[in-house]
Amino acid sequence: MDSNRVYIFDTTLRDGEQVPGCQLNTVEKIQVAKLLEELGVDVIEAGFPVSSPGDFNSVIEISQAVTWPTICALTRAVNKDIDVAVEALKYARHKRIHTGIGTSDLHIKYKFNSNREEILERAVAAVKYARRFVDEVEFYAEDAGRTDNEYLARVVEAVIKAGASVVNIPDTTGYCLPDEYGAKIKYLIEHVDGIDKAIISTHCHNDLGMATANTMAGILNGARQCEVTINGVGERAGNTALEEIAMIIRSHKDLPYVTNINTAKISSASRMVSSLMNMPVQANKAIVGRNAFAHSSGIHQDGVLKEASTYEIIDPKDIGLDDSSIILTARSGHAALKYRLETLGIKMPQDKLDAFYKKFLDFADKKKQVNDDDLRVLAGAEKAEADHVKLDYLQVTSGKGIKSVASIGLDIAGEKFESAAHGNGPVDAAIKALKNIIKRTMVIKEFTIQNITKGSDDVGKVHMQVEHDGHMYYGFGANTDIVTASVEAFIDCINKFQHKY
Ligand code: KIV
Ligand code: ZN
Repeated sequence: MDSNRVYIFDTTLRDGEQVPGCQLNTVEKIQVAKLLEELGVDVIEAGFPVSSPGDFNSVIEISQAVTWPTICALTRAVNKDIDVAVEALKYARHKRIHTGIGTSDLHIKYKFNSNREEILERAVAAVKYARRFVDEVEFYAEDAGRTDNEYLARVVEAVIKAGASVVNIPDTTGYCLPDEYGAKIKYLIEHVDGIDKAIISTHCHNDLGMATANTMAGILNGARQCEVTINGVGERAGNTALEEIAMIIRSHKDLPYVTNINTAKISSASRMVSSLMNMPVQANKAIVGRNAFAHSSGIHQDGVLKEASTYEIIDPKDIGLDDSSIILTARSGHAALKYRLETLGIKMPQDKLDAFYKKFLDFADKKKQVNDDDLRVLAGAEKAEADHVKLDYLQVTSGKGIKSVASIGLDIAGEKFESAAHGNGPVDAAIKALKNIIKRTMVIKEFTIQNITKGSDDVGKVHMQVEHDGHMYYGFGANTDIVTASVEAFIDCINKFQHKY
């Protein structure tokens, strides 16, 4: 084993997918898993099979869809969880069970009403049980960040003896300082008998904005696997971002580490995850934010034009950004469209591509230049065709000094409905007209309109959170007309309701 190889364990489809509103269906998960495989991740954590039939099914489907990455399934230190994970992993070529238990005194007392000795025994028993079925068992010591180092070392030593070949040291609450987290990993390397038989893994959360720094501190002190997600998605403030670790290791030639990540795929992976999870990437996000390579000050622009390395530590091409080829227009042909879609990871059979090309031309007529985000939005709109409730038409009159009025037409499972309403603005009028047809109590809790790039001809993206019947639904819409995008986001929420109209 190369001692400087850092294994990338991606948990976008498990820890990342736990975020409310970011849930993916199985088809979407397979799309992400295939992209993760192309990206070169070593391990894909595909789900927590005992948690729901959907997660169980996704682990099965992902196992069949990808070839070389190890497929990992999460469990608690409970035999039933392990049995279900074993069943879900049956088609995986390389499989791993990720089992564990809370080890901090807080978890031991309040979650388990137990004591350190009993928790240690449960940890060992779970690893031994999982080893009966699979060769690779990873153990996680939940809340290791706040676990006493001496006790943590005893647990780690015991689970390695029981057969764990990877030991995960999660900073579950994102509390540790980088020095503290690095020292914890060093302590384990120096005090655990048999540590050479296992790989230590980092798993850092970003509650205090230190996930990446802590992960790097872990690697610098001997960890050789890191658990990460695309765009840093994950519970609360998220997990360590894959792209940040991959690019730190690639850019710092002074560090001896290597990963297997094909960094040229980073940009498309980021966009795919952002669009499938309806989770916009903040503009100034390191590596993948839309401003990450935008130099606006005159001094910087001047320097970059003379010699890019004056202000750029990463060549945008290294993460797959190729500005010269992202513009399509109404004069672009089928081949250019197909090529661009494929670069974005969107594959379409020829018949679908022909139909899509017509939509693309309509759109290009309106917007002149079609960029990658527009294409993703257009491709996403394809799925809307299968929806139960569809927007047929929307007409809105609004402006200064007049009352906004909207008339709307809906297609509900093939039946046509129409209504009109006025409101205190165009969106209010349109949503009221829609609610005249869909007579349910729905309260908009969150509503954000985001433009994709710049310019008044741009596509607006709308993210919406609607409460209905005690549940929260997340909807997304995108259109050059922001009122239409808002109504589409509202309809997207309606289509997610359990019951049909
Ligand atoms: O943050 C955490 O502790 C986890 C474990 C379940 C690995 O996600
Ligand atoms: Zn986590």
